[in-house]
Amino acid sequence: MAITEPTWAPSSWRGLLAGQQPEWPDAAALAAVRERLQALPPLVFAGEARALLAGLGEVCEGRAFLLQAGECVESFRDVSAPGIREKLKVLLQMSAVLTYGAMLPVVKVGRIAGQFAKPRTESTEIVDGVELPSFRGHVVHSDEPTPEARVPDPERLVQGYYQAASTLNLLRAFTKGGFADLTLVHTWNREFVAGSPAGQRYEALADGIERALRFMQAIGIDLLNERTLHEVDVWTSHEGLLLEYEEPLTRKDSLTGQWYDCSAHMLWIGERTRDLDGAHVEFFSGVRNPVGVKVGPHATPEEVVALAERLNPGRVRGRLSLIARMGAERVREALPPLLRAVREAEVPVVWVCDPMHANLVRTPSGTKTRHFDTIMAELQGFFAAHREVGTWPGGVHIEFTGEDVTECLGGSEAVLEEQLDHRYETLCDPRLNGRQSLDLAFRVAELMRAA
Ligand code: PEP
Ligand code: CO
Repeated sequence: MAITEPTWAPSSWRGLLAGQQPEWPDAAALAAVRERLQALPPLVFAGEARALLAGLGEVCEGRAFLLQAGECVESFRDVSAPGIREKLKVLLQMSAVLTYGAMLPVVKVGRIAGQFAKPRTESTEIVDGVELPSFRGHVVHSDEPTPEARVPDPERLVQGYYQAASTLNLLRAFTKGGFADLTLVHTWNREFVAGSPAGQRYEALADGIERALRFMQAIGIDLLNERTLHEVDVWTSHEGLLLEYEEPLTRKDSLTGQWYDCSAHMLWIGERTRDLDGAHVEFFSGVRNPVGVKVGPHATPEEVVALAERLNPGRVRGRLSLIARMGAERVREALPPLLRAVREAEVPVVWVCDPMHANLVRTPSGTKTRHFDTIMAELQGFFAAHREVGTWPGGVHIEFTGEDVTECLGGSEAVLEEQLDHRYETLCDPRLNGRQSLDLAFRVAELMRAA
């Protein structure tokens, strides 16, 4: 039998329909940017992507849990050390709570260091009565509400690379330099429980973590010097939307000869660009990173199985995450048929719940928001669907920020509708604030203990 050369290349997507791409005005300028990106060093290594793959393989087997969380869209204006530190702090706090809740390792993946581009349902939006091209992220154009500012500028792709590099650099320093210390994280959680109106509900869990730490100390584990208590892996991810950015950052691994998209450890394909015959699925079928696909309430079992076969033909555990974003009202009925179909097709996947993107509502005055209770309702439905089918609820995918913003309603220290405009700062979707994110982690830990 003849051995055929693999025909995939990073440019294979060209010629296929690529949804949600900006209309770059100057092809020559774009080509020049592509060349510059191609000459820059990779942001992550193939070996790191393989380490994440192994972690997700454990999630796939039901031996670990995935926490994927971060910004809806990162801003070019906000690359400060305190901003990144606060996000990491909340991510680590959530992770400690979930680890204890599930008694399993938690694989931590940020929507960070590259989450710059947004797909939009409508190509235009009205700002102060003026119709403008919709905002697609700072890696495309400015968010200023003028037609000139909204013209796509390829130079911003290079700026995105450098912003991702500096964010990643700080993230690596924080996670390996002592900031991720488990006893410190536990102290933050203690403070949260003490200051939370729902504190008593969480007291038992926080007590449990404390006792576990004391137990470790009692049997002779040196809490000060044990490396695993001080260092963590936080991996990066973003929606692989702009193929003009992802292609030049895709490199052949010198060890294995395989292609990796070195812009992030994990990439996902959005709900609007997951056409089986489209450019995004073609592109991500060829790179070896762990990849995700968002799956909305209208996806059919056939479609989801076809995506799984296409993106994970080698049936590698951890390669593919299906990120269900069904809506609180739809999840109980829409999810089980998909869980069964994928199981029957015998393609291993990690099932993740994104309880954010199908639960957007507008207040009477027009502000986009999400209610904490609705987010929790989708999570409950997700766990219930897995319990019904007998599959593993592998993880959660949320949008949050470390700041005290008022963008989502509710939570134990409830944000009320009339407070939304106090600190409504998101450039795109409403995010959970630090407090609401921790509330969510404690609630998910309760769901996991009940599972
Ligand atoms: C997102 O994750 O920010 C997003 C746009 O999600 P989806 O593709 O699920 O709508
Ligand atoms: Co979003």
